[in-house]
Amino acid sequence: METHLSFVHRFEPGTQPGARPLLLLHGTGGNEDDLVPLAEMIAAGSPMLSPRGKVIENGMPRFFRRLAEGVFDEEDVRRRALELARFVEEARTNYGIPAPLALGYSNGANIAAAVLLLSPSVLSGAVLLRAMVPFAHPPHAKLQKTPVLILSGAADPIIPAANASRLASILKDAGAVVDHRTLRVGHELSPIDVKITRAWLESHAVAQGP
Ligand code: MLT
Repeated sequence: METHLSFVHRFEPGTQPGARPLLLLHGTGGNEDDLVPLAEMIAAGSPMLSPRGKVIENGMPRFFRRLAEGVFDEEDVRRRALELARFVEEARTNYGIPAPLALGYSNGANIAAAVLLLSPSVLSGAVLLRAMVPFAHPPHAKLQKTPVLILSGAADPIIPAANASRLASILKDAGAVVDHRTLRVGHELSPIDVKITRAWLESHAVAQGP
């Protein structure tokens, strides 16, 4: 656990020279260790930057405040997304890494979507696992062909299918190259998420840095 930058975080330098770093963004109640095993399965040897969300809800870390499940405090989403974007820039300088690709789950996927829309140059791409639209009125972003994979669950009790599809449209309209798939799963992650994400990373060659 590192505490010297603006977020408590974990950094793994990786073992593959030139591999694209991953920004790991955990779900509600997670921490900086949560997504490391997943990242090792999908992109072994890549550097990993994994911050812990600063908002605490009933003792559970998150990346922004919500008013109820699926109802966000959008002012806080905005503030926290910009704060996270600044942390990524700080960490890039500190660790000497290129722009990372976000790997976010649930609340972590939602803050990643907010960072894409508010600070498009901070991320080189994103894998959004069980993501929703972070803003009722999204800002007009320019995403310059940023590759984005969205994996939704057909039986997800938290995220309506139309909401996930709207997120895909918003990111596409902003210029991202979006691959949105709806799996026969719920909100939890499954082995098929791992398989698809690994193949997507390989086919987009986004595992390699510049
Ligand atoms: C959120 O609050 O970001 C979403 O409702 C997902 C969750 O964390 O449960």
